Amino acid sequence: MKGVTVIAHPLVQHNLTRLRDKRTQPQEFRRLLGEIASLMLYEATRSFATSPISVQTPLAPARGFRLKREVVLVPVLRAGLGMLDSILQLIPNARVGFIGLKREETTLRAQFYHKSLPKNLSRFEVILIDPMLATGGSAVAALDLIAEQGAKQVRLVNLVAAPEGIRRVRKSYPKLPIFTAAIDRRLNNKGYILPGLGDVGDRLFGT
Ligand code: PRP
Ligand code: URA
Repeated sequence: MKGVTVIAHPLVQHNLTRLRDKRTQPQEFRRLLGEIASLMLYEATRSFATSPISVQTPLAPARGFRLKREVVLVPVLRAGLGMLDSILQLIPNARVGFIGLKREETTLRAQFYHKSLPKNLSRFEVILIDPMLATGGSAVAALDLIAEQGAKQVRLVNLVAAPEGIRRVRKSYPKLPIFTAAIDRRLNNKGYILPGLGDVGDRLFGT
């Protein structure tokens, strides 16, 4: 699918398979999700713009690069929290915004219960983090909020995406880069991804 990068790295796929396994318990699930998030971040940030700079090594001047824009990470609560810490270890000076969204069980509509984003996102690289892209309702609601704050450079990092969710995001955001470890088959009649991972928030926090 255009604009969707499926990260096929063997370590990512190995961890994803262990996350899918229903026998994986919350403690192990949290560790694996953190690990996979770091691995995925390399690919998801590959196209970050850089500016040339020079530094002085102990021996001579050297040409190098620094990131052109500061980074804002935006996990969607709750499940996005499972990917946040390990990404922050890789980009420790990133700012963090939070979006709380909960899907209503029957309508599958995502309702906001928390919004806290840095103001004026236009000068930042924004990474929206949510393990599951199912109907796409949560992602589009979060992306709309991020766009309202002026963000221009936004990318979405998921762990598993359903074709339905990708289509929904694409309709509103045709050019948004999406990174995922897998595009699964479809949604079931309760809006869960098949085969998916089950309810990621519950599996992370043992609810
Ligand atoms: C899950 C998941 C996504 C959303 C995806 O969150 O973490 O945010 O569902 O579904 P969608 O694409 O159909 O909107 P949920 O609302 O279950 O909240 P939780 O993370 O607190 O469990
Ligand atoms: N949220 C989840 O946690 N899992 C799904 O399969 C869909 C939405």
